[in-house]
Amino acid sequence: GFRRRNCDRRDPGPSRDRRVAFDLRSSRWRFTRVTDTRDLVNLATRLAREAGDMVLVGRRHGDLDVDTKSSPTDMVTRFDAAAERMIITALRLERPQDTIVGEEGSNIVGDSGIEWFVDPIDGTTNFMYGLGGFAVSIAACDAEGPIAAAVYVPTTRDLFSARRGGGAFLGSSPIHCSTKNDLATSLIATGFSYDAPSRSRQGERVARLLPLVRDIRRMGAAAVDLCHVACGRVDGYFEENLRPWDLAAGLLVATEAGAIASDFVGARVRPEQTLVCAPGIHTALRDAIR
Ligand code: IPD
Ligand code: CA
Ligand code: CA
Repeated sequence: GFRRRNCDRRDPGPSRDRRVAFDLRSSRWRFTRVTDTRDLVNLATRLAREAGDMVLVGRRHGDLDVDTKSSPTDMVTRFDAAAERMIITALRLERPQDTIVGEEGSNIVGDSGIEWFVDPIDGTTNFMYGLGGFAVSIAACDAEGPIAAAVYVPTTRDLFSARRGGGAFLGSSPIHCSTKNDLATSLIATGFSYDAPSRSRQGERVARLLPLVRDIRRMGAAAVDLCHVACGRVDGYFEENLRPWDLAAGLLVATEAGAIASDFVGARVRPEQTLVCAPGIHTALRDAIR
């Protein structure tokens, strides 16, 4: 507990990382540890890198051991499981009080108010087929949304990161979304769900949009699409039926890079309906896909 830590000689003391807060559960004033989002980003980037390099090496040498999940097209390999295990083990060690949710089944409940979302391999279909463009996506969130994020693409060594209010980075360089304000010359990324009925709906939406834009990209990893909006490699991205681990990290990277996020009618962005794009095309793109 707190008292023991406070008596520990090696502890740097309450000066920098402590503040007094009223604890509702015990109805007492207590010192609490202030989480520096810089520490969370450092942790997320380190784990994303380690896991990403591990699966890349594994892909080159190992047996994929492919299985299916929600539908015959929804694949999982032993590397998805191994990467998630590695990330979750490290997070539990470093952040024992936090909630941790991973796509491959991890669900650890903590009471710190911080929740991690881990997609050990976003773009498993790319990974399986030996295409690049898959990523490890890790985000820490509080009640208001993502506060720290890392998305690492091991084939290109692109490491995207962001913390709330601190801007977005590719490696150590700050990144910004495009300044595009014309939908007709915009390059728009999207993705499709694994279930067939949603895909016909999504296909119809793309068919309506295609004549109105420069072109469409379906690159195969939502987290990477969002980071591509962040650094201007595409002008916008939209998708339906994402899960929180697809969205959380890339969303923070994109919005910290100046992108606008909403659902398809302009309300708060959510995994069920995600639209993230350069501010100059937001209204036009929203109207084109709603
Ligand atoms: C998928 C990818 C894909 C998107 C799907 C996701 P997975 O994640 O991000 O681009 O279109 O909606 O489920 O299964 O490769 O982790
Ligand atoms: Ca995913
Ligand atoms: Ca995945």
